[in-house]
Amino acid sequence: MKALILSGGKGTRLRPLTYSGAKQLVPVANKPVLWYGIEEMVATGITDIGIIISPETGAEVQAKTGNGEYFGAKITYILQDKAVGLAHAVLIARPFLGDSPFVMYLGDNLIQLGDLSYFLQQFSQQEPDALILLRPVANPSAFGVAEVDDRGRVLQLIEKPKIPASNLALVGVYFFSHVIFDAITNIHPSARGELEITDAIQYLINKQKHVVAHKLQGWWLDTGKKDDLLEANRLILDTYMTASIFGEVDTQSQIIGRVKIGAKSQVINCTIRGPVIIGSNCYLENCFIGPYSSIANNATLVDTDLEHSVILEGAKIVGIHQRIIDSVIGQRAQLTIAPRRPKALRFLIGDDCQIELT
Ligand code: TTP
Repeated sequence: MKALILSGGKGTRLRPLTYSGAKQLVPVANKPVLWYGIEEMVATGITDIGIIISPETGAEVQAKTGNGEYFGAKITYILQDKAVGLAHAVLIARPFLGDSPFVMYLGDNLIQLGDLSYFLQQFSQQEPDALILLRPVANPSAFGVAEVDDRGRVLQLIEKPKIPASNLALVGVYFFSHVIFDAITNIHPSARGELEITDAIQYLINKQKHVVAHKLQGWWLDTGKKDDLLEANRLILDTYMTASIFGEVDTQSQIIGRVKIGAKSQVINCTIRGPVIIGSNCYLENCFIGPYSSIANNATLVDTDLEHSVILEGAKIVGIHQRIIDSVIGQRAQLTIAPRRPKALRFLIGDDCQIELT
């Protein structure tokens, strides 16, 4: 059994963060989202892992993630020249996958940890050509959607339908036998110019191949969008965070609940109410840090009130006396207040930023 993790793509929905970095490396509880997928594979015993990368962000993904040793896995990187679809990514991975059955996992997706092994077991026992996971969602039009009969058999799969036949979305985890390659070579690009994995699975269904669907009971999030990224951060902090303090906390500060503070970080006159994770080499002074906040390494926060937010590496937030909530602040971004009360607001804001002033 092998694994293919997709870490290419365009990442348009997470702009502007994805102008400067891979969306799969955006941290959830201070760990790149891609690493959760890798760890989940290793936990289920799959250690031969191929990772699809793009020309834009591949080097960064590779440099950060390495050859797999850190995870107890062997990682092979596969370059996809252009993000022309999930099925295309599978096709170009053929030399790596050979005739082995494999699990395909979207590198910006997170499923409840521990869920994968049950489905792997089902796949190994039933030996279908494809095993797909479905989960009810509120906005099926944004996903690949399955029409299923009363006995749970998949009749039809449609990518981002305008009028969805059900609320069952295709989760970003799929199990395939090598028969999927035959399907992919027989499909054509969709209207958006991509080789769709839904079309390839539909091809299998049409050819009466063995396709089974299971419902995923645990949570599933696509962190390629800001709100889901914040929700993933909340869930991971809520479920898995344990307290540990390596940095320095002065006597004026109050640490409440599960809080993690990395080495060489300094906390001065702050109140931190967990679950919160703070990386190493951070500087926090006169701050309130509320639940579900993740602050990456080398960040500086002064006179700041923060809650339910993700702060990336090296960001600097100084003197914002209002509460910042539900926010994602990019690497090295600076958020400050002018020394005197400004008569006007001054910005240097990149493309696709979203800023709400009240
Ligand atoms: P998507 O999030 O569906 O596509 P995208 O990355 O182009 O994002 P957006 O819609 O915001 O522009 O892709 C799911 C995962 O698969 C994601 O981790 C990126 C990866 N992917 C590839 O590796 N190759 C591809 O050709 C595509 C389309 C996606």
